[in-house]
Amino acid sequence: MLDVDTTELLERDEQLAGLVAALSDVAGRRSGLLVLVHGEAGIGKTALVRQFCAQMAGSVGVLWATCDALFTPRPLGPLLDIARVTDGELRKRVEAGGQPYDVARALMDELDRSSPSVVVVEDLHWADEATLDVLRLCARRVDSVPALLVGTYRDDCLGRSHPLRSMLGELPSGLSRRQELARLSGDAVARLAGTSPLDPGELYERTGGNPFYVTEVLAAGGGRIPPTVRDAVLARAAGLSGAARDVLEAVAVVPQRTEVWLLEALVQRALDGLDECLESGMLRGEADGVAFRHELARLAIEESLTPHRAVVLHRRALAALAEPAIGSPDLARLAHHAEVAGDTDAVLRYAPLAAEHAATVGAHREALHQYERALRFAAGLAAGQRARLLERLADEGFLTDMREEGLAALDEALAIHRDAGDLLRAGDVLRLRARTKGDMGRTAEARVDVREATEILERLPPGIELARTYAEVSCLTMQADDAEETIAWGQKAIALADRLGGDTDTLAHALNTIGTVELGRGTWEERRSSSEASSSRAVPASSDTLQRGTSTYAPRCPGSAGIRIWNATRTRESSTARNTASRRGRNGCSRIRPTSSLPSGCGIRPPRPRARSSTPRRARWRRSTPPGSRGRWSERDAGTPTTGIPSIGLRRSLVRSTISSTSLR
Ligand SMILES: Nc1ncnc2c1ncn2[C@@H]1O[C@H](COP(=O)(O)OP(=O)(O)O)[C@@H](O)[C@H]1O
Ligand SMILES: [Mg+2]
Repeated sequence: MLDVDTTELLERDEQLAGLVAALSDVAGRRSGLLVLVHGEAGIGKTALVRQFCAQMAGSVGVLWATCDALFTPRPLGPLLDIARVTDGELRKRVEAGGQPYDVARALMDELDRSSPSVVVVEDLHWADEATLDVLRLCARRVDSVPALLVGTYRDDCLGRSHPLRSMLGELPSGLSRRQELARLSGDAVARLAGTSPLDPGELYERTGGNPFYVTEVLAAGGGRIPPTVRDAVLARAAGLSGAARDVLEAVAVVPQRTEVWLLEALVQRALDGLDECLESGMLRGEADGVAFRHELARLAIEESLTPHRAVVLHRRALAALAEPAIGSPDLARLAHHAEVAGDTDAVLRYAPLAAEHAATVGAHREALHQYERALRFAAGLAAGQRARLLERLADEGFLTDMREEGLAALDEALAIHRDAGDLLRAGDVLRLRARTKGDMGRTAEARVDVREATEILERLPPGIELARTYAEVSCLTMQADDAEETIAWGQKAIALADRLGGDTDTLAHALNTIGTVELGRGTWEERRSSSEASSSRAVPASSDTLQRGTSTYAPRCPGSAGIRIWNATRTRESSTARNTASRRGRNGCSRIRPTSSLPSGCGIRPPRPRARSSTPRRARWRRSTPPGSRGRWSERDAGTPTTGIPSIGLRRSLVRSTISSTSLR
């Protein structure tokens, strides 16, 4: 049962009616809808949706989830909240670290029931990448299930490159509605002020009609209006007993919600002060714990802690979460507390594990942030281990449009390997750097790197690194429209990969490149009309390959290589990877996805073919040894690089700035 704010909601009748009407449309047509409720922090999004759900709880099932306010959120965190309630297939998928498509499908199956349901996902501005992917998929097919999806988000913190923006831009118009919440009027603020000694006009003026600010000021009591939200929260907390303040401080170091067992590990005699916190309205009860009434209030209390007290509490949280009373350890939470506690060993233990887990479920932004976190604590690490972290970070940077950061990491890793005389790793990092530079349109530099990589790796016993380098050379050669050389390098890559037991990344990459060239030359069409199929290949590309936006190949393709290509990033449906793939565009190819090869119900339309640049700029590279003894390299028609994803500190600074501003404007 939802804990509903007892404050009467003013000036929200229209929005409440909008939600009721949306649900009634869903029930009447048995066809779902997505409603997005948005507005600034404290405007009343949560209060409105809670009110709505409480009203409807008798007639529909409600699933409620909130995105994490951790610096680096748990991958699929909200879906895990939902899955714990639904249990069954969805829980299995989420707990097994399923890909967004699998999770979306399990959720849709769950919602495809006879009675309508409401699914709320709160605070989408904090959603991890995998969660956004799941919601994107569900939103596209929401009309196929009798469910009302409700999302809330802060619209005052979405920068141009915020990942939520691209999701919002892709929503099907007929299936989604938006509700923007406005600040309260002077009359409404006066009503809330009631018999308070404060001047209602001044209260309205100073708070700008932000409901959270108004209610905090009123709850703080006293005869003056605190100049900031933070002051209002602290004034309110000052009225509590010592035991209650202890509880408040403990809950403040745990973003989102504190389980009761965790609270007991954080403060002695926790229950002594808890009731008072709940009665005062500063905390509210959640299904399995307690939480602040609002994230702004939590941050205000957290920031008021002395550094010593904060470290003590975070250390306790770290120890308790490492051996949780219920469930298995949550790596993202552990990495968070490890960092704030300043525990280097714990950061280096948990952050890379959290990164790996995030990458597995497709939350690459979060994976990148976890590697960044680990590297902040890596000063004492052995050079080789540091280089490994740098390479992993660069890999995630490649997938998340953070190529500049990735490049810097590769530069550092390369210097480490050169210093150590590790030729194999140096060659491989040069190849990775070539890939990144090629992706950024810096093809002249890319070919210098890949040439050096080839020269280094050819001096060593042939390995997978060399096969991947040949595939990279093939890809870079293709940009020069030199089909013969592209194919020759590609075949060299394939031959070596096969000799080494078949590295799917290499095979997928090289076959894709060759297939693209053949497609461009019309070879495929010619061969398709003949019965030639003997040399076709099918490559079961690894999920890692898929995540790289590399194409994979359907079987029985005619010609020297499979060219029935479908863009794996479409399957993954990650806007980040998709953007990466489209900007990557080095293949210059039309990516063809056979609809039949995708599981039904994912609602993915075939992508439009990409037009090739008609005026390629060219550069030349000459080598002495064939194949590739000569090659013409076209500069990629580079698009404007994106500004990338929000920095780790963005979330915190956004909320901080809101707290410390007087008017929340
Ligand atoms: N329409 C309203 N009328 C009166 N008080 C409101 C209204 N909306 C919100 N509040 C108060 O403001 C607080 C903050 O609202 P909340 O829904 O948590 O904001 P948001 O989710 O938009 O950040 C609520 O706890 C409630 O006390
Ligand atoms: Mg809220």
